[in-house]
Amino acid sequence: MPVTVPFANYQNDIYLRGLGGERPEIPTNLDRLEPLAAERLAPGPFGYVAGGAGTEATVRANRDAFDRWRLVPRVLRDVAVRELSRNVLGTPLAAPILLGPVGVQSILHPDGELATARAAAEVGIPMVLSTASSRTLEDVAAALGDTPRWFQLYWPKQREVTLSLLARAGAAGYQVLLVTLDTRLLAWRPRDLDLAYLPFLQSEGIANYLSDPAFRAGLAKSPEEDPGAAVLHFLAMFNDPTTSWSDLAFLRDHWSGPIVLKGVLHPDDARQALDVGMDGVVVSNHGGRQVDGAVGSLDALPAVVDAVAGRAAVLLDSGVRSGADVIKALALGADAVLIGRPYAYGLALAGEAGVAHVIRSLLADLDLTLALCGCAGIAELDRGILTG
Ligand code: FNR
Repeated sequence: MPVTVPFANYQNDIYLRGLGGERPEIPTNLDRLEPLAAERLAPGPFGYVAGGAGTEATVRANRDAFDRWRLVPRVLRDVAVRELSRNVLGTPLAAPILLGPVGVQSILHPDGELATARAAAEVGIPMVLSTASSRTLEDVAAALGDTPRWFQLYWPKQREVTLSLLARAGAAGYQVLLVTLDTRLLAWRPRDLDLAYLPFLQSEGIANYLSDPAFRAGLAKSPEEDPGAAVLHFLAMFNDPTTSWSDLAFLRDHWSGPIVLKGVLHPDDARQALDVGMDGVVVSNHGGRQVDGAVGSLDALPAVVDAVAGRAAVLLDSGVRSGADVIKALALGADAVLIGRPYAYGLALAGEAGVAHVIRSLLADLDLTLALCGCAGIAELDRGILTG
């Protein structure tokens, strides 16, 4: 079989290694990672990743939204060479996929975000680092090397801490600021509540704060001397529920690169983001973890794409599990997608190798499915390939 496109090669690699008796360590169907992680992880960390808000209706809605669309493949087109690359807000993407911000990765693997960053660098896929990471943004940047990186901001109540985080992220080479707006309060999450489990209370996922001079300046004793007080200080400033549209000017003034708002579901919010000079939006319901009963992310995408009308970048997350899902999101107008839980499970199951496997599987699946749909590149995707 002629090998022309690197992403699809992962399929060949797997079959060829199989001749020597090797099998993939973890499944290639990314939907099967969750049940496996349920067996291997402690109940607290597993519930924290898998769980959603309330009855988890929106976790289901995210998948239902993808399942309702069907692809209509075309035949007899030359698909020998495929073009999956794209530039989004100045960031070159080898494929329209980024690792989305997933906080507190130390509850999944001792190396946490460092393992994820190494896998991202190995495969050449950008990473969006959460403010709530268990490793500092500087250490993660070092692990990423030349790989493009974006920084996700949970907007602290104290301006000095916000300024310090922005300055550190800029200095560490994060190119795009992604501001998450759907987590101004922590939602009602029964799986975590039933186990009374919140990793932050155990000092997990707060490395960027503990290492921050402005954060430390607000403490009577250092976090090393009084870890409990540091956690309480973090909880008190984690997110500011008073911020409004006009406050975005503050971020604009202190961040020189593009700014993207994550958690936009309503087309009017997308329009308002453009009005205040934002560079993009992520259509997302946080994987169904915030508003139970919220619209499925893919269902919200077309109206946002129409409202933005090509004037800014539109990304999507929440429910992406396969190459076909990526194709559906792009066909409905997304410029790129973020993946979340699948790579978190890859990390839990096999560390850096697990994350690399998840990314490679998704890329190969995307590449092959695109070709099998009769498309030689992602630029060809539009609503014509879908039936509802
Ligand atoms: C998240 N997500 C998230 N988002 C964010 O902006 N900052 C964060 O720190 C986190 N942390 C986080 C932890 C865990 C365990 C999960 C599962 C998710 C949300 C994430 O970026 C993304 O929106 C969802 O993961 C998308 O849903 P799926 O596709 O993972 O189901």
